Amino acid sequence: VNKVRLNLGCGNNPLPGYVNVDLNTVEEIMARYPDCDLRNGPAIHQYDILQLPFSSSSIEEVRADSLLEHLSFLDEPKFFNEVRRVLKPGGIFRFTVQNFELVAKRWLEARDEWKAFYKDDPDSIRQKHWFGQYSYTQESRWGYLTAMIFGNQKGVGQFHRNCYTRGKIEKVMERVGFEIVSIEDVLWKEARDPMLSVLAKKR
Ligand SMILES: C[S@@+](CC[C@H](N)C(=O)[O-])C[C@H]1O[C@@H](n2cnc3c(N)ncnc32)[C@H](O)[C@@H]1O
Repeated sequence: VNKVRLNLGCGNNPLPGYVNVDLNTVEEIMARYPDCDLRNGPAIHQYDILQLPFSSSSIEEVRADSLLEHLSFLDEPKFFNEVRRVLKPGGIFRFTVQNFELVAKRWLEARDEWKAFYKDDPDSIRQKHWFGQYSYTQESRWGYLTAMIFGNQKGVGQFHRNCYTRGKIEKVMERVGFEIVSIEDVLWKEARDPMLSVLAKKR
């Protein structure tokens, strides 16, 4: 039997064994991540994540890592309902999303020390310019922490429009019809944004 798994908002991380979906094409993603060669990797499809081209109850697993932050208030419920529609009963929904409670706490505790406007020329990207901070440091409010909250804004799909906490995720999963199996604290790239890693099942 063919078990179909989806990886929505795959970005520069398309996974083997999954149908990988992103707003952007391989070429557009490679332009954003010059160090990434995705040409020989899994295909990346530009499907509408609010109207997936799959029949109801046909999908084994849906993954969405660092995607929910990008959805508008109006798209948010449409997305959860669409994920639930395509999943088989008991199907797995796995996602990571920033833990906004910890992000906000870090921002409040950081120094109010602005240095420079954003730059996205290749040199600045290489040097981790991040508003003049030259690192992913979270000691200043006006460095990587700013992009953590608002997205890196390098293209329409790179803005953050939404945020989550453990409490909100529990309520949303209940409302849409998922049973939470686990919620764990993790760090993006093992060192950066505080994230929640959620494993849920379609009721
Ligand atoms: C922060 S990246 C995460 C990439 C990858 N999942 C990972 O964990 O490394 C978010 C991705 O979501 C994509 N995205 C944003 N809005 C989207 C939408 N409405 N439909 C499909 N992809 C979208 C962006 O193009 C971007 O590649």
